[in-house]
Amino acid sequence: MKAEPILVVRHVSKSFGNCQVLDDVSFSLSRGEMVGLIGASGSGKSTLIRTIAALTPIDREKDKGAPCSIHLFDQAIQKNGCVTRAAAGLRSRVGVVFQQFNLVPRLSLLMNVCLGLLGRMSVIPATFGYFTQDQKVSAMTALKRVGIAEHALKRGSQLSGGQQQRAAIARTLVQNAEIIIADEPIASLDPSSARRVMDILADLNKRDNITVLVSLHQVEYAMRYCPRTIALKGGKIIYDGPSSALTPEFLSALYGAESEELFLPPIESYAATIQTGAKSMPDAAVANGHLAALDQQRAAINGARHLNS
Ligand SMILES: Nc1ncnc2c1ncn2[C@@H]1O[C@H](COP(=O)(O)OP(=O)(O)O)[C@@H](O)[C@H]1O
Ligand SMILES: [Mg+2]
Repeated sequence: MKAEPILVVRHVSKSFGNCQVLDDVSFSLSRGEMVGLIGASGSGKSTLIRTIAALTPIDREKDKGAPCSIHLFDQAIQKNGCVTRAAAGLRSRVGVVFQQFNLVPRLSLLMNVCLGLLGRMSVIPATFGYFTQDQKVSAMTALKRVGIAEHALKRGSQLSGGQQQRAAIARTLVQNAEIIIADEPIASLDPSSARRVMDILADLNKRDNITVLVSLHQVEYAMRYCPRTIALKGGKIIYDGPSSALTPEFLSALYGAESEELFLPPIESYAATIQTGAKSMPDAAVANGHLAALDQQRAAINGARHLNS
């Protein structure tokens, strides 16, 4: 039996002024897939994710060009440069998670998660933020699922980056999203928080059959968590296939010098970052074994610091 296509992107281009950011991008996702979207900075990952959520309109088709559109659940959300009327209804079935944490700082975590229900509520309760007991119970269930129920009454601003990202995922759960599209959700997280966020996405994909499209700056995560990867370069798809094929040699052939940006820094440079007390940490390390080694090193360094202080 052929898997049901849940997202179909056809000949999508996007320009900002004279700058073409997406160039004839086509691919489709079947229900239940977990797909990584990789590419160096500026390759168009965020723009592609924004077009799928219809937050950015796509370009009109060029004269006699191939018809361009984005379909979700067999309905067009964008067609030939226009966001369709069906967009609002379709968006409510799509959970979007951004790199920057989009929680309302002054609201409790529970209320932040309840906000995921707004797309399905009628105007008056939605306007005043009236949530029923059942809705709050469903928000608590979602918070439990992502492992942060004990923080339900804390304000958004009191949560760590990893907790905020897990809250963003909980919001997609109360929304009953059938597909989660996440734009570099782990880019600002430390290694263990990054791994938890990716574990949660993988669990939702496996146990709840939620389709996941996740953009990642570094290929190790895609290799570990996503059976399939789509690679962008300069707004074009340059690879779409099994993540297992993404060896350093293959990536270097695809990306040239840019490929270095797509790999995690060596463990030694990570340890040096911690030892010098630099604030900036490299993106989370996840590839099999690599992350565990990083965590162990960090624990050892922190332990040594503790003894010295
Ligand atoms: N709203 C915008 N206006 C003008 N240029 C933009 C806009 N959004 C993105 N770009 C440009 O599009 C290119 C791709 O950006 P982006 O999709 O954010 O890439 P990535 O997420 O892969 O880093 C970049 O050169 C960026 O400067
Ligand atoms: Mg981006």
